[in-house]
Amino acid sequence: MHHFHYKDGEMYCEDVPVRTIAEAVGTPFYLYAHATLVQHFNAFDGAFEGTRHLTCFSMKSNSNLSVLKLFAGLGGGVDIVSGGELFRALRAGVEPKKIVYSGVGKRDEDLRFALASDILMFNVESSQELMRINDIAGSMNRMAGIAIRVNPDVDPKTHPYISTGLRENKFGIDIREAPEQYAVAAGLKNIEVLGVSCHIGSQLTEVGPFVDAVAKLMELVEELAGAGIPVKFLDLGGGLGITYDREEPPHPREYGGAIKEMVSPSNLTLVFEPGRVIVGNAGILVTEVLYTKSTPEKNFVVVDAAMNDLIRPSLYNSFHAIQPVRKTGREKLEADIVGPICESGDFLAKDREIDALEPGELLAVMSAGAYGFSMSSTYNSRPRAAEVMVRGDRFHVIRKRETFEDLVRGEEFPDFLLNG
Ligand code: LLP
Repeated sequence: MHHFHYKDGEMYCEDVPVRTIAEAVGTPFYLYAHATLVQHFNAFDGAFEGTRHLTCFSMKSNSNLSVLKLFAGLGGGVDIVSGGELFRALRAGVEPKKIVYSGVGKRDEDLRFALASDILMFNVESSQELMRINDIAGSMNRMAGIAIRVNPDVDPKTHPYISTGLRENKFGIDIREAPEQYAVAAGLKNIEVLGVSCHIGSQLTEVGPFVDAVAKLMELVEELAGAGIPVKFLDLGGGLGITYDREEPPHPREYGGAIKEMVSPSNLTLVFEPGRVIVGNAGILVTEVLYTKSTPEKNFVVVDAAMNDLIRPSLYNSFHAIQPVRKTGREKLEADIVGPICESGDFLAKDREIDALEPGELLAVMSAGAYGFSMSSTYNSRPRAAEVMVRGDRFHVIRKRETFEDLVRGEEFPDFLLNG
């Protein structure tokens, strides 16, 4: 249940007609259903009931302050990858001790910020990073809690990873080298070894690869315990997929069932970093048709949202369903849905069958709650879209549409241009 549904041919988000919001806010805008956000967070978190665990929402998928605040209120933490994300998390009221920090390129000032904020742990991705964290923690007279992010080398051939599996190589430390790195870590004065972590990929639609990864991680946990390096946390990252088109990913319950069984004899606290599975289908991008045109080759529907608003189709050739905000029952045609940006790669859908459209009509780009706004840019000097949250019969603009002034904020003319 995504809480985007039709009543008398008109699309609603919870109890609010999408059109009403478009009239008040203008287009394009991202629209999130509070009920779906809550439902999906609880479905994931609830899948691990009875097991000590912490759900750290992966905020790279959607970093709006209100979205973060909502999950913090439900007891969630966050997975961060930058100082900027830490800033947002703290601003939204996320408890520092529920923050885990991943990423291959953590900068000194970001490490200092995270240490000063007293976050739960750093997921360390290289031996150099481990040393850097120890040095900086030492200079601040603090202890840094760490997990080593291991690359469990789960065979991608037997499990078709969608999108990221093969690109993960820069991440983590090879699981075979992990024991040695843990031994080093355990000997460092300002490092406290807290956990083992991994993240094997995104948009996974089977439980199998997770199970394989957990099996390998549990072996490592035991080996470490044997070496006198017990860990408290097992961080399994994110990656559970969603339905964009016809995918049939496992329900979090199924994922939870498989994992809980494997770790239940231990005293480990499980950490998860889900992003897409919580917010992906909780958001849509609403856009207006500007023009329709036909060439001898194709039909085009030109809309006012573009690759700067939602880059997933251009970047990954991702499928997003596109639905009319008002059903017209007109004849269907096949068309490319494209934005105004001056690039052929600027499309939201290719060769898509849709009801014929007229300028001024609204379309909803579905499943846009994850990696939508958070990956947006101002390319072509297009102000970033507004973000709106609906709860019941109310809606609120949780991020204003950017203005032209916002576009030039921080830009300055040098003397040599001003004085000839
Ligand atoms: N933890 C780590 C360390 C990650 O790198 C990621 C995603 C996650 C958690 C969350 O994964 P999720 O549960 O959302 O699958 N921009 C791409 C997705 C990139 C994912 C990067 N890492 C897209 O639009 O499909």
